[in-house]
Amino acid sequence: MYRTHTCGELTISNKGEKVTLSGWVQRSREFGGMTFIDLRDRYGITQLVFNMETDAALCGEARGLGREFVVQVTGTVAERSNKNPKLPTGDIEIIVDTVTVLNTSDIPPFTIEENTDGGDELRMKYRYLDLRRQVVRSNMVLRHRMAQETRRYLDGQGFIEVETPVLIKSTPEGARDFIVPSRLHNGEFYALPQSPQTFKQLLMVAGFDRYFQIVKCFRDEDLRADRQPEFTQIDCEMSFVHQDDVLDTFEGLARHLFQAVRGIGFEGKFPRIPYDEAMSRYGTDKPDIRFGMYITDITKAARGKDFPPFEEAPYVGAICASGCAGWSRKQIDELTEFVRRPQIGAKGLVWARVEEDGTVKSPADKYYSADDLVNLALMTGADAGDLMLMMAGPREKTLNALGELRLEIGRRLGLRDDSVYAPLWVTDFPLLEWDDETGRYYAKHHPFTAPKPEDMKYMESEPWRVHANAYDLVINGTEIGGGSIRIHDSETQSLMFRTLGLTEEEAQQQFGFLLNAFRYGAPPHGGIAFGFDRWTAIMGGSDTIRDFIAFPKNNQARDVMIDTPSTVKKQQLDELGIEIKKSGKGG
Ligand code: AMO
Repeated sequence: MYRTHTCGELTISNKGEKVTLSGWVQRSREFGGMTFIDLRDRYGITQLVFNMETDAALCGEARGLGREFVVQVTGTVAERSNKNPKLPTGDIEIIVDTVTVLNTSDIPPFTIEENTDGGDELRMKYRYLDLRRQVVRSNMVLRHRMAQETRRYLDGQGFIEVETPVLIKSTPEGARDFIVPSRLHNGEFYALPQSPQTFKQLLMVAGFDRYFQIVKCFRDEDLRADRQPEFTQIDCEMSFVHQDDVLDTFEGLARHLFQAVRGIGFEGKFPRIPYDEAMSRYGTDKPDIRFGMYITDITKAARGKDFPPFEEAPYVGAICASGCAGWSRKQIDELTEFVRRPQIGAKGLVWARVEEDGTVKSPADKYYSADDLVNLALMTGADAGDLMLMMAGPREKTLNALGELRLEIGRRLGLRDDSVYAPLWVTDFPLLEWDDETGRYYAKHHPFTAPKPEDMKYMESEPWRVHANAYDLVINGTEIGGGSIRIHDSETQSLMFRTLGLTEEEAQQQFGFLLNAFRYGAPPHGGIAFGFDRWTAIMGGSDTIRDFIAFPKNNQARDVMIDTPSTVKKQQLDELGIEIKKSGKGG
């Protein structure tokens, strides 16, 4: 028997018991004639004690144990004189009788403790050691809980888990596909799924009614803190549903997960905000509603005064930072620099502050009378002590910039508290978005999303006016999930493909299977997919999903531990009929 107990379970109630523990040597300290060792396993840490005076040989043996040695010890549970209230086992220690070294260890490249001295890259290279750290392991436990509770809830709602294939044909979700060459069919390729979208719709055609899957998806896209090339979705689909049925069902899932995993309940329904309102009030389709600071359209009031930055602008917007009138020139300059960063790309920022006597001071006061400025303050809801920040330019771009500025000010004012959760649904997305570069429409969500019936009349004449029954779940400014009611007849689906610039032939070649399936009695259906890594990270109070994935890729899409991507043998390439071009580096 390797152990009678784990390293996390002995307490004062076990005092006097003879026990055997196995685990890793986390740390060893010498103090007078005593040696103390912290023995660690998945469950916790237990202190071991060796006394030079009572057993010099054993104590010598203990002093020879290096960090991360795997050892088995037998001894007696004793009350500690110097208790550690931070550890569940902090009231006791083990007076050791025997030590067996089960395995030695090289000196680890970083300390395996809560605050490690290891940098990111080093920890990724030795991820199996990083995963020994309590903080990282507890993220994995949280992920496990999330998966179990998701299954429990969806099973209870009659959803069945069905696996769909990984070697498929390209599904357009807006990113590049990862492709896999076929050996049996030289020159032909599989694509890894960006999501199981078409398969879950086929399962609805097959009459499965309620499907879900916790599933790996693959997207070759630029990486960020909340994006990995392979990530996991909670993917779901339902038949005979309207948008409200889907939102109610998955609001139920969200409530269940928050309650079961974090003990958090929400009063009332999650707010449902149409896309247009989200954009105009928050400057983004994923608003952080933990705080107000709404954007106000001041175009009409700001123009007509010959103020050069505003005069010609198609849109002028403002936000009001409460209580920030006292911000220094330097602080405002920092905000100007912030909005000028290339990722945001605004030209600049105009400020106005409301003094204690209600007058408004602004560098633009050569152009605006005192009354004009007071009027602007009234419009934005700015009061004595508040700071107004105004920006001008093309509408969408300026709204986005104001949205980023709002988040930055929210962050500076401490309004984005990680322990507060503010979920909402964003609904009524536009069906399409125009891309200037390629001169064509793209599906805002994906090409299987149904246009709103009342907007069908614009499909061919003014497609940009068409809205969709598409929705996102947003929590604290992060898009956690997205879905839609789907097209379920082949005519509308063909019309959609045509609107997206696909010829009849291309549509048949890429999606013939789906168009065919829709001819055999496809039920009305809709669904959603949640970013499982993102949701888990948010539950863990972080927005870095890498910390919640056991073996993640780095921000160059590399796994530095197993060193991949990597080259393959010439023979493998020959079998696949593939030759590598000398200049064939990606990019
Ligand atoms: P969508 O493309 O919006 O929808 O993806 C659903 C959710 O998956 C998460 N996500 C990601 N997480 C980590 N890394 C990535 N690279 C990544 N890309 C997306 C996001 C997102 O909200 N088939 C549709 C769903 C449907 O219509 O039912 C789909 O995949 O949290």
